[in-house]
Formats: sequence, C-alpha cells, structure tokens
Amino acid sequence: MSIRFDGKVAIVTGAGGGLGKCHALELARRGAKVVVNDLGGAVDGTGGSSAAAEEVVAEIKDMGGEAIANGGSVSDRAGAKGLVDDAVKAFGTVDILINNAGILRDKTFKKMSEDDFEAVLNVHLVGSMYCTRAAWPVMEAKGYGRVVMTTSSSGLYGNFGQSNYGAAKLGLVGLMNTLKLEGGRKGIRVNTIAPVAATRMTADIGIPAEIMEKLKPELVTPAVLYLCSEDAPNGMIIEAGAGYYAKVQVVEGKGVHLGPNATVDDVAANIERIGDMSEATPFGQGGEVTVKIFQTMPS
Ligand code: NAI
Repeated sequence: MSIRFDGKVAIVTGAGGGLGKCHALELARRGAKVVVNDLGGAVDGTGGSSAAAEEVVAEIKDMGGEAIANGGSVSDRAGAKGLVDDAVKAFGTVDILINNAGILRDKTFKKMSEDDFEAVLNVHLVGSMYCTRAAWPVMEAKGYGRVVMTTSSSGLYGNFGQSNYGAAKLGLVGLMNTLKLEGGRKGIRVNTIAPVAATRMTADIGIPAEIMEKLKPELVTPAVLYLCSEDAPNGMIIEAGAGYYAKVQVVEGKGVHLGPNATVDDVAANIERIGDMSEATPFGQGGEVTVKIFQTMPS
C-alpha cells in the first residue's frame, strides 16, 4: 500500500524549516500541491523573511513537485486569510491544513511577562484557529477536509518553564475536540500530532547529541501524513518521535457516587476511590460524561 496525495492541495504552516519542512516535502513527494507558509523569524517569533518558505518551494520544484511560498504570519487574521486565498488562487482549493507554526518564550510563570504568554498563545492557539477558520468554509463547501493540529507533551503532561506553551498546546486539543464533532458531519476530520524531534526548537534544551541524532523530524512526518490522509481517523492524537508512535487520550476514572449530601469530608475520605484509574474510560464528547453520571447513580 502506498498512500498518495495526488490532486490534493495542502497548506503547511511554519514549513520553512524543522518539522513543517519535512511534512511539506513528503506531501509533495506523494503528489500534493503544497503551500509552504513561514514567517521566517527566530525561535521566539521575532523578525521574519519569506526566504525560508521560498527555499522549501525551490526544493519541491527541483524534485518535480508543485508548491508556492507564503511569508505571512498565522497569528495575523489577514495573514491567515491570505494564506488560504493564496492556495485557492494558485491551486483552486484547500484539502489539507497542517497547523505546525510555533514559537517558544520559556520562563517560569512568575518571571514570564504577560506579553510572552500572549505571544505564544497567539501563534499556536489563535494562529491555528485563524488558519482553520479561513480554510473551513472551503472544506465545508466541498465536503472534504483534513486538519492537523500540533500539540506537545508539554501541554499534555506539563513542562517546567512552559506555562504559556503548555496552555496553548493543550488548547489545541480542546479546539480539535469540538471541531472533530462539527467537521465530522461535513467530511472534515481533525486530528493532532504530538511530536518529539531534533529541530532548532529543541537544539538548546540539553538533549545528548546521540539522542538528538535519532530524533529525526522525518520520523514524525509519517504520523502527520496518516492523520491527513483520505482514510484518516477523526479526533485522534498521536505522539511520535524517533520511530515511536502512540495514541494519546484523555480518560476518566470509574468514579464514585457519594450521595446527594456529599461534603468535602466525604471527598477527602474517598479520595483513593475517586483517584482509582484502574477502570478509566475515554469519552467521545463532553455530554457523555453527564449521561454516565446519571446512568451510574444509585437509585
Ligand atoms: P521550528 O522552530 O523549526 O519550526 C517552527 C516554524 O514556525 C519556524 O520555521 C518559524 O519560522 C515558523 N513560525 C513561527 N511563528 C510563525 C508565524 N506567526 N507564522 C508563520 N510561521 C511561523 O520548530 P519545530 O520543532 O519544527 O516546531 C514545529 C511545531 O512542532 C511547533 O508547533 C512546535 O511547538 C511543535 N513541537 C515540536 C517539538 C519538537 O520536539 N521539536 C515538540 C512538541 C511540539
């Protein structure tokens, strides 16, 4: 089996380097027409030039593929709209959107300025929302769309010094959880990748060189391409790094009913049972939790 993207138009944000570049190149190798977006700034989001995106476009053209560059910012409403307009103008439509662009402004919460918090939220969460909102009507009108969000273990599980980044990254999972429901009825599937890769973003965090060598961004791309393929799932999170691939899911314990007069003392006395995850289950959507609460209520 060889998964192909012939005839598909894909936008990859932040594709001037790192993971996004790998996604863009592999999509092009497999037949997609690609819009390579990148603001071309530093890791903290300062500066910018369209040169990075243009270089990736040149690489795609050299191997016989079709691509255009876009140097706009995903965290700018007009920039995100322009990105989708560029795709439609050059290639007629948008089938795939990979929200990959990102920046870092690490500091402990106490030392972090509100500007640094907002800047990170604006690129990852708001930027992904802007791009997805711009592509959504095009996808809805044709009854086909694949959107991939990029989260992080920092958001899923926490990481010291990354309160801004973690909040933004888990926000993307929340965004996916609703869009998978709204889009599913319209042929749009929304999934999320949680990558681990050696890029400029992870260059200075002290990972030993022999481990960095194994963390090839090219080993994250297969999961991303699967998540935006024709037979993609809907609402799936895959953690991917160094050839490891695992589904990630939020689950809830079996729970315990403490009666209509439950007090804080009852919660304290039962905290082990409340925290028992041995029979944890996932839910397809929020309302299912309410149904469970009432279905398991003792009469
Ligand atoms: P990277 O720094 O090489 O790539 C990010 C790209 O996004 C850069 O080329 C940058 O110019 C671009 N960008 C930044 N702000 C932009 C904006 N406003 N508009 C358009 N483009 C913009 O880093 P990497 O590692 O390739 O990151 C890709 C994604 O993967 C990010 O969302 C990152 O948070 C995420 N990620 C990476 C991990 C890793 O281990 N490398 C771990 C978890 C998540």
